Amino acid sequence: MGKNMVRMKTVAAVMALSILAAGCSGGGPESSEPAADTVKAEAPVDTGPPAADDVATLDGVAYASLTGDAASGKSSFAQCRTCHVIDPGMNRLGPSLANIVGREAGGVAGFNYSPATADSGIIWTEEKLNQFLEKPARVIPKTKMFYAGMPDAQARANLIAYLKNPS
Ligand code: HEC
Repeated sequence: MGKNMVRMKTVAAVMALSILAAGCSGGGPESSEPAADTVKAEAPVDTGPPAADDVATLDGVAYASLTGDAASGKSSFAQCRTCHVIDPGMNRLGPSLANIVGREAGGVAGFNYSPATADSGIIWTEEKLNQFLEKPARVIPKTKMFYAGMPDAQARANLIAYLKNPS
């Protein structure tokens, strides 16, 4: 068999393989109709931040199902301490977090809040703090708190237990 014949056979084999591969990557009769939920996911409606009394999280973990451990929360508070202290009346880059649980947003006298936080209408219930701390910029898009968030639901519950009962 001549050299050319070998080349042609190789080309044919490569072509056959690519046709097979194309068959695998969709185009089959089952995949031609996208499922209804796929369509929804592709076109999300931008609804803006959650309402002040909406406490749904991205992770969907029910806050009530968690028991916070204040001692662990105290270690996690290291992430906040660059900007906040828990002592009353002491504002740093961020406002004092004394008695934060149950207090209205923007409530610390003498702290220069962003309008976004001051006018948010939020009451810092445990559930709202849980939502906020997961991803602050989602809950108050124009907050001047530059903190990416704490994705771990149990870590947030621990931190909130500490904020409720600092020691
Ligand atoms: C980089 C600095 C920084 C870090 C880190 C930070 N914060 Fe803040 N925080 C701020 C600032 C600044 C504000 C005021 C936001 C505004 O006015 O928009 C704020 C506001 C808040 C508020 C709202 C207070 C109020 O009186 O309404 C809460 C609650 C809060 N922070 C909790 C935390 C917790 C808990 C952590 C740690 C997980 C944390 N922050 C980490 C800077 C920070």
